[in-house]
Amino acid sequence: MTYAAITGWGACMPPAILTNDDLSTFLETSDEWIRSRTGMQERRISHVSAIELSTVAASRALACAGLDADDVDLIIYGGVSNDEQVPNSASGVQIALGAKNSASIDLNTACTSFCYGLATATAMIKCGMIRNAIVIGVELISRYMDWSNRNVAVLFGDGAAAVVVQASDNEEGLIGTVLGCDAEARESLRVRGFGCSYSGLNVTFGDTLWDFDGQVIFKRAVHAMVEASARVLRQNSMTADDVDLVIPHQANLRIIESVAKYTGIPLEKVMVTVQKYGNMSAATVPVALVEALNEGRVRPGSTILMPAFGGGLTYCSLLVKWGERITPVGVSTRALPLCTETALELVNRVRATQDPHGRSFRGLMTPVFAETQLV
Ligand code: ACO
Repeated sequence: MTYAAITGWGACMPPAILTNDDLSTFLETSDEWIRSRTGMQERRISHVSAIELSTVAASRALACAGLDADDVDLIIYGGVSNDEQVPNSASGVQIALGAKNSASIDLNTACTSFCYGLATATAMIKCGMIRNAIVIGVELISRYMDWSNRNVAVLFGDGAAAVVVQASDNEEGLIGTVLGCDAEARESLRVRGFGCSYSGLNVTFGDTLWDFDGQVIFKRAVHAMVEASARVLRQNSMTADDVDLVIPHQANLRIIESVAKYTGIPLEKVMVTVQKYGNMSAATVPVALVEALNEGRVRPGSTILMPAFGGGLTYCSLLVKWGERITPVGVSTRALPLCTETALELVNRVRATQDPHGRSFRGLMTPVFAETQLV
């Protein structure tokens, strides 16, 4: 039997830090409100493209695995943030890595994109279609955040991380997978302004309207992640006691605490990064995985649970059995160019391009064409 071992890992965090106090300079909000409702203290704002973030993360993962770029069969770019719609983003990472024998897929299930990508690559390795893959989780949300909306602007940050997955005879890597989608609640989490429905509206890219029902998302997210975690443990004849580490999606500290409580796993076993990075959507789980490895929280043979949810509302819970190696084979010298602006300056640059038509226009941002006529 072939398994799909995780043999390489690497993150790429942009250096510019946006604090809660920075947000208070242009939003009616406060450090106290953001900390108490979300657990967030700061987040990163990228000065480079999403492909650059991804390339550095993927280079680090390749070096960590000791794998040559020529040997990569597949790159999965997981996330919502594309530098361009065509050509796809995975091909941009492919050319930057020099992975000339690879196929390249963009995969968007919102915040669960990395986890869905890991499940996809694992399945393709297990069935013999490919042997080596890079799976990336990346977001560059700062470029299309509605910075005038305090309900959402305080919640997100930029970042990227990647893993290398390779065919192996050892029983390790993804050993259990539950994927699902609570599509009845798809309206509760929507970013208006992207996509064919808005054809003809002449919306400046990045001038978006975020329709979020935070409380609906909160309840459904907790329910879905707890249910999926119970199912994936049951399918593998395990209980919560068998889990060594939980690496959950990081949308809100209170969501993470609820998932831990209802899954029956003590918070000490849960990896939390939301305080320093906010919600990086598809990047949250892989960045937290890389940090867990760096901090020595992943041990040889560790059983790791990864519950996540995102727009759709897609959800999942993955069960990973770690292999023997918890240290990198090699280190990449690839790094981001120097950042010469503060995070607040970077955000203000995006803000200056937003809403050229005024708030009233944005309030009217309804699709030009019917979103769907099939009921
Ligand atoms: N600063 C100050 N006040 C704010 C802010 C802010 N940044 N944002 C909202 N408020 C106000 C609201 O306007 C509201 O005021 P009102 O009572 O006068 O109307 C008040 O604070 C309370 O708002 P609630 O929605 O009740 O706050 P809640 O405790 O539910 O927290 C939050 C909001 C953090 C969004 C929460 O609902 C949540 O975490 N939801 C799920 C996570 C989520 O939606 N994340 C988005 C991404 S989802 C994903 O990752 C897939």
